[in-house]
Amino acid sequence: MAKSEAKEIKEEKEAETKLTDVPGIGPGIAAKLEAAGVYDLMGLAVMSPATLSEMAGVGEAVARKAIQAARGLLKLGFVDGMEFAKKRENIMYITTGSSNMNNLLGGRGIETKSLTEAYGAFGSGKTQLGLTLAVNVQLPVEKGGANGKAVFIDTEGTFRPERIRQIAEGMGANPEKVLKNILVARAFNSDHQMLLVDKINEMVKEGEPIKVVIIDSLTAHFRAEFTGRGELADRQHKLNKYLHSLMRMAEMHNLAIYVTNQVMANPAMMFGDPTTAVGGNIVAHASTYRMYLRRGKQGSRVAKLIDSPNLPDNEAQFFVTEKGVKDEG
Ligand code: GTP
Ligand code: MG
Repeated sequence: MAKSEAKEIKEEKEAETKLTDVPGIGPGIAAKLEAAGVYDLMGLAVMSPATLSEMAGVGEAVARKAIQAARGLLKLGFVDGMEFAKKRENIMYITTGSSNMNNLLGGRGIETKSLTEAYGAFGSGKTQLGLTLAVNVQLPVEKGGANGKAVFIDTEGTFRPERIRQIAEGMGANPEKVLKNILVARAFNSDHQMLLVDKINEMVKEGEPIKVVIIDSLTAHFRAEFTGRGELADRQHKLNKYLHSLMRMAEMHNLAIYVTNQVMANPAMMFGDPTTAVGGNIVAHASTYRMYLRRGKQGSRVAKLIDSPNLPDNEAQFFVTEKGVKDEG
């Protein structure tokens, strides 16, 4: 059996674990959770004790224990050193074009087997970074690329071939060749967007050397389709499923995933920047690296790293230039 097959079977087994397998979650509580859109262990694992306590009508201590048990069953948290080293063995990196931003992300750019999310207001540079990555992935490894192709999933009609040509020319590459190595798909709704994951998996199996998948935007369709308050749980459930299939794809094929996310006003917040990413803790939990992008002084932009597992929260200055993302304007 191939290694990836074994892994798939293992993951399917995990997916079969039911809410009632968690100590403290009986059929009654499970039914309440399901009615609220929490169908699986991941949904439970990313909840806060307060929310669970309220939703299920149990005390916070019980809720905390159940969440920890769900995390344990999912093996979130610690893996042994050998397993960790093995998983990291063949990681590749794709430069963002800015050494400041690369440093923010640990030194060499976005990484394979990971999901990097950029969220921020309109015009903050999320799409421009995506376009830059679609070009940079094609660079040889010693120049900061992964010698591979890009998939660009466009949900908003923002893909611009002229921009790709410009960025390619800026680095002295053949613009037509660079364009040919970017496989663009327009996703018309969230179901279509989810189906495209299967299509990408197929293309990789057929030998396409895809090393980055760019999704611009991750959440726009989900946000537009699930508008009512009562639909929030369904949306989160679907988004959660989608993020899982993305992470599985990233790990199976050793490719990087870059997603953009919109922000929504958070009127409850009184200090600082009153915006939060769409999708809330479901997306936060799935993202390995989250960057908040905003406009800075004198045409610059600032990327801030948000709750990274192994890097300090930090900021980096960058510019969106004719040649793509750079350190200088
Ligand atoms: P939304 O998708 O609207 O949420 O925004 P976004 O974060 O995706 O913004 P995007 O990445 O499209 O950034 C747009 C900005 O990039 C513009 O306002 C310009 O400042 C800058 N930009 C785009 N193209 C060029 C270019 O060719 N040259 C330069 N110098 N800047 C550019
Ligand atoms: Mg955009």
